[in-house]
Amino acid sequence: MRNLLSFLLVLAAGVNAQRTIQWTFVQNGTSGVIPVELITISPTLMLMYDRADGNPLLLPNGEQAWAALWNLETNTPTPLSSITDTFCAGGAFISNGTLVSVAGQPLENPNQPPADGRMGIRLFGPCTSATGEGCTVFEDPAHIHLAVTRWYPTGLRIPDGSLMILGGSNTNTFYNTGPTAEDSIEFFPSRPGEEGTVRPSQFLLDAEPVNMFPRSFVLPSGNVFVVANNITMIYNITTGTETRLPDLPNGVRVANPFDGTGQLLPLSPPLYEPTVLFCGGSAADDSRPVTNLTTLDPATDQCSRITLTPAGVAKGWEVERMPEARILMESVMLPTGDVLLINGAKTGYSGYPSVSGSNASQSNAANPAFRGMLYRTSFPAGQRLTQDGLPSSNIARMYHSSASLTAKGNIMVAGSNPVPAVVLNATFPTEFRVQYLNPDFITNNAPRPVIQSAPTQILFNRNASLKVTIPRSLLLGETKVALMDLGYVTHAQHSNSRLVFLEHTVLGNTLQITAPPNNNIYPPGPAWLFLVADGIYSEGVQVMVGDGGNPPRADQGVKIPVTSL
Ligand SMILES: *[C@@H]1O[C@H](CO)[C@@H](O)[C@H](O)[C@H]1NC(C)=O
Ligand SMILES: *[C@@H]1O[C@H](CO)[C@@H](O)[C@H](O)[C@H]1NC(C)=O
Ligand SMILES: *[C@@H]1O[C@H](CO)[C@@H](O)[C@H](O)[C@H]1NC(C)=O
Ligand SMILES: *[C@@H]1O[C@H](CO)[C@@H](O)[C@H](O)[C@H]1NC(C)=O
Ligand SMILES: *[C@@H]1O[C@H](CO)[C@@H](O)[C@H](O)[C@H]1NC(C)=O
Ligand SMILES: *[C@@H]1O[C@H](CO)[C@@H](O)[C@H](O)[C@H]1NC(C)=O
Ligand SMILES: *[C@@H]1O[C@H](CO)[C@@H](O)[C@H](O)[C@H]1NC(C)=O
Ligand SMILES: *[C@@H]1O[C@H](CO)[C@@H](O)[C@H](O)[C@H]1NC(C)=O
Repeated sequence: MRNLLSFLLVLAAGVNAQRTIQWTFVQNGTSGVIPVELITISPTLMLMYDRADGNPLLLPNGEQAWAALWNLETNTPTPLSSITDTFCAGGAFISNGTLVSVAGQPLENPNQPPADGRMGIRLFGPCTSATGEGCTVFEDPAHIHLAVTRWYPTGLRIPDGSLMILGGSNTNTFYNTGPTAEDSIEFFPSRPGEEGTVRPSQFLLDAEPVNMFPRSFVLPSGNVFVVANNITMIYNITTGTETRLPDLPNGVRVANPFDGTGQLLPLSPPLYEPTVLFCGGSAADDSRPVTNLTTLDPATDQCSRITLTPAGVAKGWEVERMPEARILMESVMLPTGDVLLINGAKTGYSGYPSVSGSNASQSNAANPAFRGMLYRTSFPAGQRLTQDGLPSSNIARMYHSSASLTAKGNIMVAGSNPVPAVVLNATFPTEFRVQYLNPDFITNNAPRPVIQSAPTQILFNRNASLKVTIPRSLLLGETKVALMDLGYVTHAQHSNSRLVFLEHTVLGNTLQITAPPNNNIYPPGPAWLFLVADGIYSEGVQVMVGDGGNPPRADQGVKIPVTSL
């Protein structure tokens, strides 16, 4: 009866009949390091990268840990050893399943040979052990390192499965300007003929002084879309050509230190038209000196989206307003295609205390945002943003906090540390408490779709067969299969976050899926499959998309006509 009723409601109200999930915070355990970077590794593990300035978590040799694996089952961290300092690095999984973290802080590990974290390349996994036992960070700084020193760069997996590294600074700075700004692009592994060199970027230079962690996305054409400060471009990887597109509207700036968050909205067959969304950040004038900015300057409440096709660009940016202004906010793509917006503050900026008023509060931001928001992607403009179903937290998650979807389908929320050390008595103290934001179907242990078995690898443009169960109560609703990269989360940026909805058929307990047509739609590498039925999603199952070989990989699958720029 209830099914019939909800079915009729769906028919009556179209997309607006979407179920409202009620979310609940649960706190459990302490991270031991500050999860400045948070990456979903496996069904049971999250990787946390930080630095060592007073962390309670110690390595077996008694040194403070710079990184750790968080176990979702025991709610405890296991320290990980790294040679170079991982603080404020960027990264991605590459085509062979290795997680690559690049750049960081210059600090040297007292127990290791001299190695500047700013040139660091750290290779982790694939890690198949449920507890992380035997999974280590591999580094060989003498032989494997970046071409130049970087801090706060973006790492992006591109269609050949390798890592593109964009921008950054080579010093700890608020505004990124002058000779210390690293306005260039390089790749790991290096492209033929580019070993030890970088590609200067006029775009990144034009985006000074608000251009760290440039927000970057691989489009279905194989080009890369980049936003830094309030300017945007399409980057052709082969030729290095930068083509400017319309500025973000109304002076809103979204890169560090005016951190707004961005997502490529879900890509759907047959055209995979890309729409990008940016929420929060600041519309402050970036020619104001640092000391003229204050912790109480309002963040923006603007979300802006644009479809990156000729028609979409002709139409221009579409602006929506959040219920509250936000800076330093994280965005988490859900398997439904909605985007959860969480953490951060309503006023101020990113960075260590440097703006006016920051001495008193030991933070560049103030007015923590305790309640998340949901961006309902399928709703009509003007109705997409809501706080319905979202609870308030009592933990401020300011600069250097993070949030990521886990394989279980809840959201791990952790970190916060606006000061350059572990400080427990500041206005916004170093935060080690871990929280989960649980959807009602996890809280209530309600029936969920289950992926019982799936292949470990799927090849482009091929079909694959999975064994699933869908609870009777959800059978009348729409089913979706989400193929996702859960991203490399740091500084309000979910680099590599991606959701491709797959063509599929369900027959009894057999789910037949069709993999993405080619490596531009989903750059080859690890992914998570979630089955969504009537708005409720399964736990994620990890698969390798593509042949799993070392980068660079040749084009795989079939070319399809795309409208994407
Ligand atoms: C915290 O996690 C541990 C390990 O999973 C579990 O035994 C305990 O019940 C949890 N506590 C709360 C309050 O959820
Ligand atoms: C990059 O530019 C070259 C030369 O104009 C062109 O052949 C190629 O199709 C472009 N790549 C993409 C992905 O548009
Ligand atoms: C982007 O910022 C520049 C420099 O501050 C400003 O001149 C320009 O008007 C802004 N663009 C928009 C669309 O607001
Ligand atoms: C910033 O500059 C403006 C214009 O000069 C001035 O009115 C304002 O008081 C300054 N604010 C701070 C915090 O310095
Ligand atoms: C904060 O305090 C330090 C040390 O007292 C001082 O050097 C610095 O100028 C102050 N910064 C601001 C923005 O007031
Ligand atoms: C925090 O503790 C330190 C060390 O005990 C002390 O010097 C400092 O004044 C304290 N700060 C605040 C805001 O209480
Ligand atoms: C592949 O799967 C799709 C559904 O995802 C189905 O329509 C199609 O018939 C399948 N093709 C083959 C060759 O099995
Ligand atoms: C993955 O590829 C990178 C780049 O070629 C290489 O350094 C690394 O060793 C590879 N990982 C594995 C597990 O083979």
